[in-house]
Amino acid sequence: MNAAGIRDTDYNELELLAQSDSGAIVVKTSTILPRQGNPEPRYKSLSTMSIQSMGLPNHGYKTYIRYIERLKEKYEKQGHSKPIIVSIAGFTEKEYLTLAEGFQHSKADMIEVNLSCPNIVGKRIIGYDLKGVDDLTKKLRLATDKVLGFKLPPYLDEVMIEKMSKIILNNNIEFVTCINSIPNTLIIDPATDKPWIKPNKGKGGLGGRCIKPIALGNVASFCHYLKDKVSIIGVGGISTGKDAYDFLLYGADAVQVGTQFMEEGIGCFARIQKELDEILRKKTLKIATTCRRRNAERFTPYNEENSFTK
Ligand code: DHB
Repeated sequence: MNAAGIRDTDYNELELLAQSDSGAIVVKTSTILPRQGNPEPRYKSLSTMSIQSMGLPNHGYKTYIRYIERLKEKYEKQGHSKPIIVSIAGFTEKEYLTLAEGFQHSKADMIEVNLSCPNIVGKRIIGYDLKGVDDLTKKLRLATDKVLGFKLPPYLDEVMIEKMSKIILNNNIEFVTCINSIPNTLIIDPATDKPWIKPNKGKGGLGGRCIKPIALGNVASFCHYLKDKVSIIGVGGISTGKDAYDFLLYGADAVQVGTQFMEEGIGCFARIQKELDEILRKKTLKIATTCRRRNAERFTPYNEENSFTK
């Protein structure tokens, strides 16, 4: 499926996703009110990476509730409806709850709570504030009985993944999507010696092929701590069937495509699926729960018992 924020803001883009080989439709992160987003240029793609500081341009959640209703009605009639995942971001806890309550009464199938938007200047990325996430989650869980998941930032510290996993398990969160783009990054245009993008002094979220090892490491770690109790959607640097295969093998139940979808367009889903099918056919490998669990066990994160210093 598409990653949240990629070609999923306007109704016609969502229709294109409905008609594509994407396994689901992910809708641009909604805020309470419509937003224009940050000034341009706010996205730049290079050969192995992209940087963006979009600033949450979206039509506001009430519009997306209507879009989803239209999509469901049209494609259910045609017999090929697919799951719709909405993404929400509040500027306060109260806003998150209003958004969850709003979509509770919509035709959305799943709610991805964006805990990781890197582009709101002066605001902490809530996914790095474990106590804040725990408090918010308890309230969110009461606000909706839709399938509820977290979009997480990249963690470079294994202990944070272990702690976040406990919060997820204790609060009946049903899926995690990891990782969001890597925050606080900067790329300079060699022709001008200035940043490629304008907002936030040129800093933004890094995506694209170069972030795959970080994304894959996070997915493997979450798989270890969450076992098979919580579904994992892998995202970050997926551009080929082999990338999708690696994520599925090391713990993901599904994958999302961000930068590659932005660059290639809607045809990327059929191509990646075809490449993945070919790999699976060649290996005659059935990705089964047992295999995923074996990989999770083989991957032994740091703890007191296996500390290098002992
Ligand atoms: C935006 C960027 C993100 O990486 C995200 O998760 C949500 C929103 C944005 O700037 O629009």
